[in-house]
Amino acid sequence: MARKILSVFGTRPEAIKLFPLIHALERDDRFVSRTCISAQHRGMLDQVLAIAEIAPDHDLDLMTPGQTLDELTARALTGIGRVLDTEKPDWVVVQGDTTTVMAGALAAYYRQIPVCHVEAGLRSGDIHHPWPEEVNRKVVGSFAALHCAPTETAAAALRRENVDPESVRVTGNTVIDALHWVTQRIEREPDLASGLAELERRFAGKRIIGMTSHRRENFGEGMRGIADAVKRIAARPDVAVIFPVHLNPNVREVMNAELSGLDNVALIEPLDYPHFARLLDISYLMLSDSGGVQEEAPALGKPVLVMRETTERPEGVEAGTALLVGTDPDRIVAETVRLLDDEAAYAAMARAHNPFGDGKSADRISDLLAG
Ligand code: UD1
Ligand code: UDP
Repeated sequence: MARKILSVFGTRPEAIKLFPLIHALERDDRFVSRTCISAQHRGMLDQVLAIAEIAPDHDLDLMTPGQTLDELTARALTGIGRVLDTEKPDWVVVQGDTTTVMAGALAAYYRQIPVCHVEAGLRSGDIHHPWPEEVNRKVVGSFAALHCAPTETAAAALRRENVDPESVRVTGNTVIDALHWVTQRIEREPDLASGLAELERRFAGKRIIGMTSHRRENFGEGMRGIADAVKRIAARPDVAVIFPVHLNPNVREVMNAELSGLDNVALIEPLDYPHFARLLDISYLMLSDSGGVQEEAPALGKPVLVMRETTERPEGVEAGTALLVGTDPDRIVAETVRLLDDEAAYAAMARAHNPFGDGKSADRISDLLAG
């Protein structure tokens, strides 16, 4: 009999990294694929659902402006629990380390439904960076029945925590599947990513720096440091910063106050995935504190300066495409200027690597779920 798989997710990055698996499950008659979104994110999640053509079976519509971690956790836990009681799936699939992931997995565990954790085993070793994600993923790692580790490094981290080695599999990261999928879509339908044309004309002749920032642990001083660095970098006439600003009000307040109105900075609304892929493509380098961008940039050979103190994705740093720069503005400016002015330093970083996968992770995971 076909296995019923319930994929539970809630934010933009989870949707991006799960749609390849959901597509694989939908076209495979070994499975009945069902989906439940917490909608911890609303607009940014809906952007991904639209491009990936996923119509969720259950939408808990949880997002409230400026939501707190405890309220969101409580509502996600009870809401997802109710869906599990209705659906009674054979497996629950979660991806990553958000509140939805932790609550969804816990709700499954409370019902003794096996959990498949996609992107398992990422560890920074510091429960405050990234916060609260490091603890969310450790919680799921403590009871998941199947841990789909993106890399051997992540698998080794799980084994060090005494997770049953039989339950740990290296599958690659589905973000590479997603990136291949969206790249092919854009090749077939260039209009899907043509919305940056006006900015591209405005900044013609300048080197584009693509940027994202949203980490909770950077709120306050960290964000102000990042904004200060961008202001100084954008004072150069030969660069322009394109910054799709995350919808979190803690991010928008600081960035709008510090960066709006600058000639060489475009603060824009969150881009849908094809347009973000286009931004990666036209960028000379990326400045980011995002998890996903640390995986996509190396795959495309785009240097990424990671504005965090630690990373759970050492593979990009080891491959030489990513560099940890923290949130100290002097350091961010110095490393950016080095990449802008030192051709050899730039060439050393701007080489494509695929430490995170080969684009076939979703098929590997579905085979494991069938097995
Ligand atoms: C969440 C995840 C983080 C992940 C990030 C990806 C947690 C604790 N944090 O952080 O791990 O890296 O998503 O982006 O799970 N908002 C909107 N519209 C949206 C999305 C957010 O208005 O589509 C605003 C709302 O005011 C919301 C706030 O942003 O309350 C915060 O959203 P939340 O999901 O709690 O935190 P993120 O910072 O987005
Ligand atoms: N992304 C996007 N539009 C944007 C910014 C990012 O589609 O305007 C994509 C990006 O390609 C990556 C993911 O969103 O796949 C990263 O999401 P985010 O930075 O919100 O979360 P994180 O990866 O840090 O958890």
